[in-house]
Amino acid sequence: MTRAFVIGHPIAHSRSPLIHRYWLEQLQITGQYDPYDIPPEALADFVGRIRTGEFAGGNVTIPLKERVTELCDELTPTAAAIGAVNTLFVLDGQLIGDNTDAYGFLANLDDKAPGWDQNLTSATILGAGGASRALIFALMNRTSAPINLVNRTRERAETLADAFGPSVRPTGQEELPDLLAHTGLLINATSLGMHDERHDQLDLSRLPKSAVVTDIVYVPLQTPLLDDAAKRGLKTVDGLGMLLHQAVPGFEYWFGVRPEVDNSLRQRIEADLFARDKA
Ligand code: ATR
Repeated sequence: MTRAFVIGHPIAHSRSPLIHRYWLEQLQITGQYDPYDIPPEALADFVGRIRTGEFAGGNVTIPLKERVTELCDELTPTAAAIGAVNTLFVLDGQLIGDNTDAYGFLANLDDKAPGWDQNLTSATILGAGGASRALIFALMNRTSAPINLVNRTRERAETLADAFGPSVRPTGQEELPDLLAHTGLLINATSLGMHDERHDQLDLSRLPKSAVVTDIVYVPLQTPLLDDAAKRGLKTVDGLGMLLHQAVPGFEYWFGVRPEVDNSLRQRIEADLFARDKA
């Protein structure tokens, strides 16, 4: 039987088992997908288990995504550019590290806001942490529009922008009001939404009426940013779709069938988010 995993520390919150088990059942594949709590110091041993053939591969989440790059035989060009791995698979005895977050981000926008990339004047990313790298990589592969990288700590935005070249423009929060007037896509990649907090100086009234607003946070599903944007009549895309779509390539690597992100999968995960929120 083909087996796959998700590793992270902690891991109990991960919705990946629900997603992959849904597809295994729907596609009637005899396979297994299990979570393992792996602290950083135990990662090398776990990678040894993958090498023995126990698993076809699996997902990697916080805090292991960067660290695992050093333990792979090869990285895909995407994982190498992003500097982080979220998906592992074994090919001809080699352990390959891929990153499907950029794919998931774009597939979610294409699904929920088709045409978002046409005539895009500029995109603005809030936050310059680990998650932002995948978003910059994704946007640069899809559009030549400039990308504004706004971060509370400006130096961090500068360091990240330097890795990508002149189309990524690092700025501090004080420039945000002016940038918003030319922003066709606004992305939150900070952890603010998770804590039910709002961004300082983020006056959504400055955005063009046609702007799309998205958040990579999906707990809560409707972050304060998405709520404010929806109230203004702006198009919003929540972060759950990115989680669902990033899972597609991994499932195909391990189990050999490309699964669909359908409404009933989404409803199942939404029900779980809601149930755990109430617990
Ligand atoms: P990750 O690597 O997973 O993206 P992170 O490194 O903790 O997580 O980054 C979180 C992002 O949220 C950072 O851009 C952080 O800004 P700083 O670089 O200035 O720390 C941003 N962030 C967190 N709390 C914030 C707040 N209260 N206001 C503005 N930005 C915040």
